[in-house]
Amino acid sequence: MGQVHVSAHPLVQHKVTLLADERTDSKTFRELVRELTQLLLYEATADLPLQTTDYHTPMEATTGYRIGASIGLVPIIRAGLGMVEAAVDALPRAEVWHLGMYRDEATHRPVSYYNRLPETCPDDIVLVLDPMLATGGSAVDAISVVKQWGATTIKFIGIIGAPEGIDLLSTAHPDVAIHLARQDRQLNADRFIIPGLGDAGDRLFGTIVAGAE
Ligand code: PRP
Repeated sequence: MGQVHVSAHPLVQHKVTLLADERTDSKTFRELVRELTQLLLYEATADLPLQTTDYHTPMEATTGYRIGASIGLVPIIRAGLGMVEAAVDALPRAEVWHLGMYRDEATHRPVSYYNRLPETCPDDIVLVLDPMLATGGSAVDAISVVKQWGATTIKFIGIIGAPEGIDLLSTAHPDVAIHLARQDRQLNADRFIIPGLGDAGDRLFGTIVAGAE
């Protein structure tokens, strides 16, 4: 499990508790997803390569640093979209490529419905964004697609993960670092994370239908 990083940062633990609380409304939920994405990316990008660069301050010529890699962000639609804004704020030169997947309610298997990746991967590092790692099926399939596309250095940035999903993803893609805010206890019979936070896509986009659950 050397590639699994569950943040121990107090701000992350505080914010993920607020996020999961059923009393948190959609507006606050979206804000917390953004804030948690910023904090998780701060940790997940700690090993980005640097290049030296010469420049002038108003006082003298000197040498500094710039990020020495191109970065692609791959949010898994829908819920991954909630993480994009914070990610491009932190990484303003990053390119954003979209993959759409939903989990079939009967089989719990991911169904791919949207793929706008160009023919070849132009990025040195690809960060796959999805707040939820439940069975792990969506993340495993998304990362397989990203690998077939040509990406070689890939990280998964999530918020809550179940042990089942963490195991599946780290077994299927042992080279992919997994960054999470919290590891939860288990999946229930419907393959939802327990205690979890419910359906991240519905809570982000305000699409919880009364009486549907
Ligand atoms: C959720 C979540 C992940 C997936 C996780 O998406 O955002 O993409 O389920 O489950 P898994 O690990 O078992 O594959 P969902 O299918 O609810 O679609 P949505 O984002 O459009 O709401």
